[in-house]
Amino acid sequence: MQQKIIILDFGSQTTQLIGRRVRELDTFCEILPYNKFPENDPDVIGVILSGSPYSVYDEQAFKIDLDKIRGRYPVLGICYGAQFMSYTLGGKVEPAGTREYGRANLASFEKENPLFRGFDEHSQVWMSHGDTITALPEHFRVIASTDKVVNAAYQADGEQLWGVQFHPEVFHSVQGTLLLKNFVVDICGSRQDWSAASFVDTTVEALKAQLGDDRVILGLSGGVDSSVAAVLLNKAIGKNLTCIFVDHGMLRKNEFKNVLHDYECLGLNVIGVDASAKFFKDLEGVTDPEQKRKIIGRDFVEVFDAEARKITDARWLAQGTIYPDRIESLNITGKTIKSHHNVGGLPEEMNLRLCEPLQWLFKDEVRRVGRQMGMPEHLITRHPFPGPGLAVRILGDITPEKVRILQDADDIFIQGLRDWGLYDQVWQAGVILLPIKSVGVMGDERTYERAVALRAVTSTDAMTADWAHLPYDFMAKVSNDIINHVKGVNRVCYDISSKPPSTIEWE
Ligand code: XMP
Repeated sequence: MQQKIIILDFGSQTTQLIGRRVRELDTFCEILPYNKFPENDPDVIGVILSGSPYSVYDEQAFKIDLDKIRGRYPVLGICYGAQFMSYTLGGKVEPAGTREYGRANLASFEKENPLFRGFDEHSQVWMSHGDTITALPEHFRVIASTDKVVNAAYQADGEQLWGVQFHPEVFHSVQGTLLLKNFVVDICGSRQDWSAASFVDTTVEALKAQLGDDRVILGLSGGVDSSVAAVLLNKAIGKNLTCIFVDHGMLRKNEFKNVLHDYECLGLNVIGVDASAKFFKDLEGVTDPEQKRKIIGRDFVEVFDAEARKITDARWLAQGTIYPDRIESLNITGKTIKSHHNVGGLPEEMNLRLCEPLQWLFKDEVRRVGRQMGMPEHLITRHPFPGPGLAVRILGDITPEKVRILQDADDIFIQGLRDWGLYDQVWQAGVILLPIKSVGVMGDERTYERAVALRAVTSTDAMTADWAHLPYDFMAKVSNDIINHVKGVNRVCYDISSKPPSTIEWE
């Protein structure tokens, strides 16, 4: 039995963070839309209700039938979750006189309460709410207060039901992880046996049972997710897995060769398809970024499809989809703004069933699973790289010569980051080839050549990013090396834009 905590998502921006914290306690959890509670799932050991952008008294506020969970599982409401339970069961929630955002300290708390076991006096918590619980239902009692918020936490008498107005999941709630541990481990009884090793064992067994002797195809991109998915499947079904790795001609320097070699060393059954000529031909003269992406996407499906059809008895298409790709986050209107990303357009008549062994993992967990299976570190810590590759880093039309220039410059930058120990400090990095030429002087000669921009960013999820503050000495060396060694480039700039308002890629 795989114990699990269910986190019901009422639309808060920190819901995913609650999930991460629970996983860090080596406990499996699922984040589900507030109205999708899985009734009759014997593996559920506890329920957490998230925050929400709504007020409980808003007409559109998300509501659930508490009877489905109350009395059946231990329940912890966070922020809106706490206000919702209190309000629904007879308490009062009102706009706070002063909205409480930011740091607060617990002025008092019930020391013997299992939720606050081990807490320090004046522990710092993080508040973020415009409403406050002004009166609790009759059978609820206050178990913690701050100077400004009397009902900062409560428990229902004689029930396994708690609410906290602050956010234990955020970093600034200093003992937030302890509070979640008290709930998940002590109260819900988690065995804390969710680990990379247990994931590999149970997933391999489950894949064997699910796939039997069926043939499976999987598209490899060189990235972490598809690579880990492939190794996991290989462990389960060996040669019944066929991986297809397409070279569109716009990968990094030597990437196709190197990654293919890595895959072969891992024992994967890989078909490498060099389709660069087709991509270059179809992209000839195209300058519009969207157009480029569309052509590459379409060509990719065509090439993949042609290869996949050769495996006539394939029954499954495996993908490296990970959890953040799947979570349906709710926007304020309750509409789904991001749903499960798709098969990438493979024709339906192929009738392949989807197999997504990493669909419950966060990115750092995918990396841990990769390490657990002995995959080489350079495959696991590799920077993200866009599907359309260098095509979206060459502004203007694409030619093999421009790709060659960019590959050489990019290789110097990336290798430099590795040599200087900076590679793992940035989220991703690359070089952009600009569609302009400028005048320079080399020796006694006037030059009129291209400019490139270096891009390196720090980020945790690519949703927001800051430009990396790389050391000047390093940038001087890279600039020098690029201009001296890459024929066709005589100027190097550094991109100092953050996201938003810019994006990581230039196109
Ligand atoms: P932006 O440029 O939107 O990029 O800030 C965010 C992250 O997504 C990557 N990216 C892509 N990845 N296919 C991909 O697989 C794409 O078409 C694509 N476009 C951008 C980008 O490198 C960054 O990590």
